Amino acid sequence: MTPKISAAADWIQSRANLSPSAAIILGSGLGGLADKIEDPVAIPFGDIPGFGTSTAAGHRGQLVLGTIDAVPVVAMAGRFHRYEGWSNDDVTFPVDVMHAMGASRLIVSNAAGGVSPKLSVGDIVVIADHINFMTGTFAWNSKQSVPCFGRTHSGPTYDTAMSKTAMQVAVDTGFAAYRGTYLATFGPTYETRAEYRMMRKLGADVVGMSTVPEVLAASNRGMRVLGLSMVSNVANPDRPVKADHEEVLQAGRAAEVKMEAIVRAVLGLP
Ligand code: 6GU
Repeated sequence: MTPKISAAADWIQSRANLSPSAAIILGSGLGGLADKIEDPVAIPFGDIPGFGTSTAAGHRGQLVLGTIDAVPVVAMAGRFHRYEGWSNDDVTFPVDVMHAMGASRLIVSNAAGGVSPKLSVGDIVVIADHINFMTGTFAWNSKQSVPCFGRTHSGPTYDTAMSKTAMQVAVDTGFAAYRGTYLATFGPTYETRAEYRMMRKLGADVVGMSTVPEVLAASNRGMRVLGLSMVSNVANPDRPVKADHEEVLQAGRAAEVKMEAIVRAVLGLP
């Protein structure tokens, strides 16, 4: 653990005396889940030493500490994106800090485009694995400056027990959830139909601009990881695509109930 990481962890724990067992990252439009945290202490990202200031629309930019069903948690309402100009280290720093505070599990969510023809707006995809294009084809736009890292171990990146529980919650509660592959681009723009066709051929089910850096950091530190995508728009080459930020936010509000059910069940795991 670097001095920068322990300094941030100590600073946070001096304000919220809590040792979280799980870390949660709430993506675009999903930040409302932070309101379900009991006895919350909310700290703006910008106040925390070493953190950046979140600027993406639809993100609160707060770290919220408290409990969910008596489980101590630390949640990021909002996150840092590579396309905003943050380095890979900036994006993964909060994960390192939450791990240093004691979190051994990470639940990470995002709003993503549905590449698979099975998917509709508002569906939940439990991420089974990912394709990292942040370091490849799509990475070399104006703000890319440093190489990203990859996996440093050979075990599964996403936790099987957590994803099984997530899928079971969907069955029990009666909503659609799919296991799928998340493809991460650098962003900030969406893609062409030809690119969606390519992504589908490569085996992607959903596409987004986040999550992979945080997942790799957590997994490399030995954390158990659950990744959830909420389909905010359809990225289907055979259907006309209309993707705007308002659509993303609205789908997020509708999917929040499903996400909450999954989060509670997964936090209840031993
Ligand atoms: Cl269609 N593409 C990418 N790269 N990210 C997204 C998206 C699409 N929809 C939500 N996030």
